[in-house]
Amino acid sequence: MTNEAPESRWFHLCMKADLAAPNAFVTTRVEAVPLVAQNIKGRVVAFRNVCTHRFAVIHGEPSGCGPLRCPYHGWSFDADGVPVGLPFNPTDFQLEAEGRRRLALHPASLARCGRLVFIRVAAEGPSLEEELGAAHFARLSALSAAFPQRGDALEPAEDWERIEAANLRLHLAPDGALVLHSAAPTGADRRFSRTVTFYPAATPITTNAEVPA
Ligand code: FES
Repeated sequence: MTNEAPESRWFHLCMKADLAAPNAFVTTRVEAVPLVAQNIKGRVVAFRNVCTHRFAVIHGEPSGCGPLRCPYHGWSFDADGVPVGLPFNPTDFQLEAEGRRRLALHPASLARCGRLVFIRVAAEGPSLEEELGAAHFARLSALSAAFPQRGDALEPAEDWERIEAANLRLHLAPDGALVLHSAAPTGADRRFSRTVTFYPAATPITTNAEVPA
């Protein structure tokens, strides 16, 4: 972890599978900046979760499934962040292609480490691997791949191995479970913290199994 400003740092957001479905989205907040990662027609992209019309928050929930459409005047945005659906455009907004492009959403950064998805406010900066370090990055990637099955929540015990990266704390059980706790980024409230338990592929589980593609 670096001492840089929160806007310049990577934060763990979710798992890759959380964004696999068309229109799936996950939101968070870093300081005062709301962020969203969204699947738009198979492309997973990230923006500031703020409409460029009157600056309303677009998605109010921590996660869900629905188009990237502002709840106020119904503008919807494509995978480049450009408003493409503007109800009453001919009478209310009169925006042609160039005007729409100027009102594109502000991009954020996304990175993947194995099945873990990270997000950053700044569109430019060091890669996730550079921030975490190559060895740490490789370990996280391997761990995320080795525990593909989502299961019931577990409370980590004292003797579990603990690994930290960015806002992420992983607890690794000796007998095969991985609890992943993602703390809310700096300045965000607790609804943006996430905890999930995973099991290795060979371990049979009976509840909430979700095997990503
Ligand atoms: S504030 Fe978003 S469409 Fe008007």
